[in-house]
Amino acid sequence: MYNDNPTLDHLKQIDEHKQGEAFSLTETELYDPNYKYFYIESYGCQMNFSDSEIVASILGESGYRPIRQMELSDLILINTCSIREKAEETVRKRLRVFDQVKQQKPGTLVGVLGCMAERLKKKLLEEEKLVDLVVGPDAYRDLPGLLQTAETGEKGINVILSREETYADISPLRLDSNGITAFISIMRGCDNMCSFCVVPFTRGRERSRNAFSIVAEAADLYERGYREVTLLGQNVDSYKWSNPESGATVNFAELLAMVARVHPDLRVRFSTSHPKDITDEVLHTMAAFENICNYIHLPVQSGNSRILELMNRTYDREWYLERIRSIYRILPDCAVSSDIIAGFCSETEAEHQDTLSMIPLANYSMSYMFFYSERPGTLAARKYPDDIPLEVKKRRLQEIIQVQNKVSLQHNQADIGKTYKVLIEGDSRKSDQDFKGRNSQNKMIVFPKAGNYKPGDYVWVKVNDVTSATLMGTLIS
Ligand code: 5AD
Ligand code: SF4
Repeated sequence: MYNDNPTLDHLKQIDEHKQGEAFSLTETELYDPNYKYFYIESYGCQMNFSDSEIVASILGESGYRPIRQMELSDLILINTCSIREKAEETVRKRLRVFDQVKQQKPGTLVGVLGCMAERLKKKLLEEEKLVDLVVGPDAYRDLPGLLQTAETGEKGINVILSREETYADISPLRLDSNGITAFISIMRGCDNMCSFCVVPFTRGRERSRNAFSIVAEAADLYERGYREVTLLGQNVDSYKWSNPESGATVNFAELLAMVARVHPDLRVRFSTSHPKDITDEVLHTMAAFENICNYIHLPVQSGNSRILELMNRTYDREWYLERIRSIYRILPDCAVSSDIIAGFCSETEAEHQDTLSMIPLANYSMSYMFFYSERPGTLAARKYPDDIPLEVKKRRLQEIIQVQNKVSLQHNQADIGKTYKVLIEGDSRKSDQDFKGRNSQNKMIVFPKAGNYKPGDYVWVKVNDVTSATLMGTLIS
């Protein structure tokens, strides 16, 4: 999900479920010199990938078409992430590659979008001479105007953050889609002030998108053959939209129910939940609708209460464990995953042990695990010394990964012999004789093709073998 280090063409290889055909102009022979083309790479969270689809739609209105071959494009865009230093280093490396393309094809414009654009602002233009455009996450509507400026040889920059922008009326152009699963952005920005996190600075204040526009987008996707939507926000549990006409408000549980009612065959997922905000109302809504998937991404960050306080997470270990117990009580089949940070400022060995012990207690099906990376301007950077040596951070991260791998394997082994309803997403990565799809718990299942089933169909699959990452099974007719 978090993608700090993709190779050359993310459009081809990001994530198992993001390979596909819908990126309309993919073949060189379809190149039409009468059009202008853009090439886009995205890094970071799902929200960034979703934003790139909004950008693609805005560019489409200005006559630009997407293309996979950057050498043929008139405009190269990179949608960037600032979450860790490594993410920014990756972007700088990619800019060197774009440099070369630009040298071979003068006139090609290069634009930096997203969080790194927002964080570095004008400095990015000073540091990266080849960059023509710098556009922050709330300024994408300005892209056509900025492009006109850049075409005259001037630099185009807009990094103004907004309190209102949700791009609610823009219908995303699905890039690199499998035609079955899609993201829907339901809110933007973040009002939590986790002390390690750069997001409040790069994405601005939290705002929720018009609930009816979200439902309409889900309904449109269903009509077009999509069978799964993932509702995206930095903290979906604090979704709150007020209807300006009636004054009525919609909270996240209500929004979930509205989207689930679009069609029983449209699966609904969401990410990311916050332990302080996830309510029993959300859990009961999940239980009430078969098509709301039994999967919650509930980042703990640390298993130790003192570290959680320094992180400004506003919950402690006990609170988190109570939320976990409520999830398993109300949704016995639910899978829970997490984000974990190793080696936050002043973390002791004993506090690190608390993080290790949290993994089996919460029984995470999987986790995204990182070592702490100090980000300029954040609360932690200003208040706490980054005092855990890199080797110690890395060793603690390895220990966390080891425990999680063991717990993931056990979690998957417990599925052997069970039968799951699976939404087919396409061919498995390794063989076109096998399909891949996910169960409600968001586990990828690979199984031999049989019958006339096709992507988008629901099938029942019995699990007979597992690794720590994947389930293998057979179709049950
Ligand atoms: N260093 C390391 N990991 C971080 N994350 C956010 N900020 C940092 C940082 N400064 C992780 C958190 C978050 C995920 C998106 O990235 O675990 O949930
Ligand atoms: Fe990266 Fe966070 Fe920005 Fe997403 S919101 S792109 S994770 S910095």
